[in-house]
Amino acid sequence: MTVLGAAARNTVRTIAIGTATLLAGLGITPATAQKIEGLAPTPPMGWNSWNHYGCNIDENLIRETADALVASGLRDAGYVNVNLDDCWHGERDAAGNIRPDPERFPSGMKALGDYLHARGLKFGIYSDAGTNTCAGRPGSQGYEFQDARRYAEWGVDYVKYDWCATGEDEEQRNPREAYRTMSRAIAASGRPMVLSVCEWGDNEPWLWAGQYGHLWRTTGDITNCWDCTVGHGSWSSSGILPILDQQDELRPHGGPDGWNDPDMMEVGNLPTLAENRSHFAMWAMLAAPLIIGTDVPGMTPEITAVLANPGLIAINQDRLGRGAMKWIATPQWEAWAKPLADGEWAIALLNRSGETQRVEIDWASVELKDDTFGHRAEFAQQAYAMTDAWSGAAAGDTRRKLARELAPRDTAVFRLRPL
Ligand code: GLA
Repeated sequence: MTVLGAAARNTVRTIAIGTATLLAGLGITPATAQKIEGLAPTPPMGWNSWNHYGCNIDENLIRETADALVASGLRDAGYVNVNLDDCWHGERDAAGNIRPDPERFPSGMKALGDYLHARGLKFGIYSDAGTNTCAGRPGSQGYEFQDARRYAEWGVDYVKYDWCATGEDEEQRNPREAYRTMSRAIAASGRPMVLSVCEWGDNEPWLWAGQYGHLWRTTGDITNCWDCTVGHGSWSSSGILPILDQQDELRPHGGPDGWNDPDMMEVGNLPTLAENRSHFAMWAMLAAPLIIGTDVPGMTPEITAVLANPGLIAINQDRLGRGAMKWIATPQWEAWAKPLADGEWAIALLNRSGETQRVEIDWASVELKDDTFGHRAEFAQQAYAMTDAWSGAAAGDTRRKLARELAPRDTAVFRLRPL
């Protein structure tokens, strides 16, 4: 038996009280340790390596991206999370501790985290609930607490947790158990980390993942096309419209601290400026996490301007935290409406088609009702001043008909404020 001296006992007690106080302050107790609440009151914003770089990442790229986020003003626009996706991993050591790839991350992860934090950024990392990641690196199954402790030592703030190699059919790992375990492991590490649930919408995560994580993927992987689905054998990836078309019915489930995640953005990777604008506008309207997935150091000024647009970001980050509903749908164009705080609304007019569309809205003759959340605009009784969200320019009010020409695949967005 080890007999502790009074001083040592006090130190142990102080540490114990310190941890308990810290956890209590975060809204959790060790016995029930689960999701750390309040980490994502508005949709998370940042950058992730996967969409543009895949496995081809190293510490220089991450540092250059961080520097470019700062220099371009994107950090100050809100994009603070710098998230490494798959392939940062090396082998576990003899004690089972996960280590970074020594060639790609020779300075180690703590140094990388310090680099990001020194620039006012946050550090995100990726792992997987199975035996290996989707790219075949070590997964966290059976190592959850050990990995979360390691992430905490490195200063990690955000964990994306994927679903490859979790077994097949009846042998498959229970998704709730898997994400609950990682959530508890993060809480037990004592460091607040956002948990991004990434099981591709396979198990209706919108019904349960909010207990464990702060956002959950609603679909399979995104790819950089407007309206295509690309098969990869056992799975497929989808472009902007097919993903968008799956979001409307999930709207009741997303909100502050638990966001529907239609996947990281392909803004900057789509062929035309209009497509990039529309993709960004619709993700902003959906209250989706805004995670940039392009080459930030090589970004064109037009794309930086899209991603940094203050009017669109304000709509996305609105504190009410409601996603947009599909309001008017035609085969060529759609109007989506997002209720905002203080009785305001955002309206997006999306041209799905490859031709210019003329859209007219006679406010007095339309009804805007959000039955899910109980919001309502009665334009005949209450007029709204309109601002063009892209330009910030005044755009009249709802006492007059709105008429707009939408360029092919472009999106106009208006912010409506009660007069
Ligand atoms: C899955 C995820 C992607 C990405 C890759 C990495 O496909 O859905 O977002 O993380 O794995 O291998």
